[in-house]
Amino acid sequence: MQIERSKILVTGGGGFVGAPTVRALIAAGAQVRVLDSVRSPRLEGLDCEVVIGDIADAELVGNCCAGIDGVLHLAVLPLTAANTEHEAAFQTNVRGSFNVFRAAGDNGVKRVVYSSASSAYGPTAAVPIREDHPLRPNAFYPATKAAAEMLLRGLAGAYGYSFAILRYMNVYGPGQRAGVVPAVSQRLLAGERPQLSGDGTQGFDFVHIEDCAQANLLAMAAEVNGEDFNVGHGSVASLNELVAIVGEILGEAVEPTYAGDLVTAPPRVGDVTKPRELLGFEAQVELADGLRSVIVELREAAASGV
Ligand SMILES: NC(=O)c1ccc[n+]([C@@H]2O[C@H](COP(=O)([O-])OP(=O)(O)OC[C@H]3O[C@@H](n4cnc5c(N)ncnc54)[C@H](O)[C@@H]3O)[C@@H](O)[C@H]2O)c1
Repeated sequence: MQIERSKILVTGGGGFVGAPTVRALIAAGAQVRVLDSVRSPRLEGLDCEVVIGDIADAELVGNCCAGIDGVLHLAVLPLTAANTEHEAAFQTNVRGSFNVFRAAGDNGVKRVVYSSASSAYGPTAAVPIREDHPLRPNAFYPATKAAAEMLLRGLAGAYGYSFAILRYMNVYGPGQRAGVVPAVSQRLLAGERPQLSGDGTQGFDFVHIEDCAQANLLAMAAEVNGEDFNVGHGSVASLNELVAIVGEILGEAVEPTYAGDLVTAPPRVGDVTKPRELLGFEAQVELADGLRSVIVELREAAASGV
């Protein structure tokens, strides 16, 4: 689908990944409508329509899909809340996703891209994880992500629109306040030693939000239908490496402290062959550059008291 001049609905467009996606869509010439439950400062100054509301409201979601060519569905009750607040997670991540995918069909939307999560694979010894790995989530948040993937497959089949599923790996970037990257960065910025679990050798596939935004656009533009894709950098960085890189950026080598049991799980890294071959997606932001963008934003936020 051509992005330029198309009308795209972004659910959760005010969020961490949503806002850079909205910016990238506008830059590519799309007309963007955002549906988000909160008015996000991240969208200030952007030339897009913003509808404040809940994706659990089927009528509202239907109205938002009217006249839309493509839907990027990102709205979510995130991991920590979803793993404990099961009813709320079901309402947003499952029922809400159903509303979005059904409304897309009812309104003649041509293509839907769903932001799923690599945690939907569940615990695995596979390194790297390929997209044909079974989905065996072992907690409620990833279960809702896997459930929504299946709902999209079923409803796209019923209505005949085209779709893609993206499974993000460990997303990081400026503006993030939860997760290991901001935790480590904030400790180091405060001149404190970060505390790592185990011996700090646990490995992750860190992917920058700007790369996720590009993956979203490429998945919307692609002709390929019904496929799932990992969205990752495709390389492994350990927590110790993370601390070392942030220390280097700050010009000060800091020894982390270690606590808790040794983490024996293999590194979680996505095989990125399929997105490269079918979407032309390849992560562009190297970890050191991405972490620099995190530090800059955290310093600005601290200076302005946010
Ligand atoms: N950030 C990550 O590390 C990561 C990793 C894997 C997958 N993902 C997926 O990427 C997508 C975006 O994640 P994010 O990190 O930007 O999350 P986020 O929490 O920053 O953004 C989610 C947005 O959805 C909105 N929202 C929540 N409930 C809503 C509702 N009921 N109705 C309408 N809007 C609602 C929130 O206000 C927020 O703006 C999600 O689908 C998430 O599962 C994120």
